[in-house]
Amino acid sequence: MNCANGYANGNETLRLLTSRASCRDFSDKKIPQETINAVLNAGIHAPTGGNLQPYSIIKVENHDMRIRLAEFCGDQGFIAKAPVNLVFCIDWHRLERWASLEDAPFSATQSFRHFWISFQDTVICAQNICTAADAVGLGSCYIGTVLECLRELRELLELPNGVLPVVLLAIGYPRERPMPRRKLGADVVVHDEVYRDLDAEELLRAYENKYEGFALEATEERVAILEEVCKAVHGDEFAVECLERVREAGLINAAQYRFGLHYRADKLPDGNEDLVRATEEAGFNWFKRADMSVDDKD
Ligand SMILES: Cc1cc2nc3c(=O)[nH]c(=O)nc-3n(C[C@H](O)[C@H](O)[C@H](O)COP(=O)(O)O)c2cc1C
Repeated sequence: MNCANGYANGNETLRLLTSRASCRDFSDKKIPQETINAVLNAGIHAPTGGNLQPYSIIKVENHDMRIRLAEFCGDQGFIAKAPVNLVFCIDWHRLERWASLEDAPFSATQSFRHFWISFQDTVICAQNICTAADAVGLGSCYIGTVLECLRELRELLELPNGVLPVVLLAIGYPRERPMPRRKLGADVVVHDEVYRDLDAEELLRAYENKYEGFALEATEERVAILEEVCKAVHGDEFAVECLERVREAGLINAAQYRFGLHYRADKLPDGNEDLVRATEEAGFNWFKRADMSVDDKD
């Protein structure tokens, strides 16, 4: 155990933050209303740019609704088992209405700056809630695949224009306390004063330590996908190098798995256009303003 852990053990908040883990296995126990209220209240006390709070949280407890959420978010069944699902959304709709009622000018949905800050506000609020949930003995798991079903969520949750889902947090009592996952250490993530690149050996050691024991069998099917992804992204020569590495090791390594199979490097950028379109459909058009300024310069 390092010194940082020793210090954390003497402080309840630090201990909580360093021993947490995502929970994907929830018991049937209902969350008392006053507990959930206390957890939500911790969220709305989070820091927020200009103290504007440009977010809304859709609290979903209805079982059929939770099943729909689980289906939409990539068929992750454990979402429906969590008694409470919180969908965190950027919400400029409420502020636009406020501005209108008060005869104030409003253009936040056209501003990248507002979008950027409100995204952070939303996530910081969610993280306060995540920590508060841990503090009262609940468990939770973020669900980022809301991005794959923005339109479906807008319809299901009846979100007006200017309200955009960012992330879902599934909350419930854990069946078992989940084990904390290994992380890169502060020695890797924190840079003193200025950025310092790790040398190759340090970098590999850091990731080997994080993913110690990771070994994915190089089945024919996986190797074929990996080859396809490598060819599409970096060309034939790179694909040969990658497959040679797999053959030598007799395994697919952690980096190859993450960027070659799980978050496919060839497919993910393809989604950009549709995501921008879905964002526009939700009433945001700052990227259009950006396009216009580029055209103006031509
Ligand atoms: C933005 C975000 C999106 C995530 N999306 C999912 C998800 O869709 N499904 C899932 O099972 N876990 C999801 N997670 C949980 C991560 O997999 C988890 O945090 C990570 O593996 C580290 O494990 P730990 O939280 O136990 O430390 C997400 C986490 C974050 C922060």
